[in-house]
Amino acid sequence: MLERLPETVKVFEVGPRDGLQNEPRQVSTQDKVRLIEALAAAGLKNIELTSFVSPKWIPQLADGLAVARAVKLPADVNTSALVPNFKGYQSAKEAGLRQIALFMSATESHSQKNINKGIADALSVLKELSQAAKADRLTVRAYLSVVFFCPYEGRVNPASVAKLLLELQNMSIDEISLGDTIGAATPKQVVELIKLISSDIDLKKIALHFHDTMGTALANVLAGLESGITTFDASIGGMGGCPYAPGAAGNLATEDLVYLLNESGIKTGIDLEKLVDCGKLAQEILGKELPGRYLKACLSSREKKVRAQAEAQA
Ligand code: HMG
Ligand code: MG
Repeated sequence: MLERLPETVKVFEVGPRDGLQNEPRQVSTQDKVRLIEALAAAGLKNIELTSFVSPKWIPQLADGLAVARAVKLPADVNTSALVPNFKGYQSAKEAGLRQIALFMSATESHSQKNINKGIADALSVLKELSQAAKADRLTVRAYLSVVFFCPYEGRVNPASVAKLLLELQNMSIDEISLGDTIGAATPKQVVELIKLISSDIDLKKIALHFHDTMGTALANVLAGLESGITTFDASIGGMGGCPYAPGAAGNLATEDLVYLLNESGIKTGIDLEKLVDCGKLAQEILGKELPGRYLKACLSSREKKVRAQAEAQA
């Protein structure tokens, strides 16, 4: 264990999109912008700003274009957004984003529930959109969801995931993020899947996207690191969930991930203290406590310090 860790890791922040998409309380455009700018100030260089999907399906992110136009970010931040079709693609271009994030599922049932079409049709859409994006000089990320478990079909066959990955590999796609959409995967499954795909797929192009329903997300990150993966998705404070994956909890918390990486001697370029400020801001914006453990621990120790200082002065 822990013999093959990389020197650096790319953290891909999905909080403003995956984190918010399922939140029932409507967050204002201004608050979304504040949160995104704070995340960039903490050193995150890859941020998924929003979705350009149907507002009927994801009402929380209906203001995607306004958010993307309003944020002021350093020039080296890779701005991305979820795009399901040409309509969404036009919005991403209008917003001046650098990247589009396409998405599809590894099972027919999740695909139908999430995008109202089957896998074959989704593959055609991804092919057309990735070609258009390349012609427009945008980079392309693609999510493959439910690669371990599907909320409708149960355990997913790794061989069928590997087959879909080969199809994606033949498209103009720069990075493929493998999603444990319901947050139930275990390290053994992660190691087995990466081993299975590693002879055909360039692992530098693979990202892992863990939700944390069963509390296995960080253990899965470690399994991914040991298997040669160097890009991980996370969401500030552990916000999130897919509305079309019943029972799924939030994403792996960005602060928990960065704490683990820092303490393992892996560079991320992210300021953990500032990340905690972002988590605090996210809690204020949502009006509730978030599940991130490092966030909870830090905020409670900050509170204790403030109380002790006040008592000392009294
Ligand atoms: P549909 O109903 O089959 O499509 O939805 P449609 O073409 O009939 O359009 C329906 C209405 O939406 C129309 O409006 C369109 O104009 C509008 P109307 O004529 O009824 O007034 N519309 C749009 N509006 C704005 N932007 C667009 C757009 N497209 C259509 N881009 C569709 C098909 C794909 C659009 C729909 O199913 C959809 O938007 N799905 C998105 C669902 C979603 O966002 N799910 C969560 C993200 S995936 C996820 O969380 C997993 C991930 O995190 C990884 C993991 O954890 O595994 C990525
Ligand atoms: Mg997700």
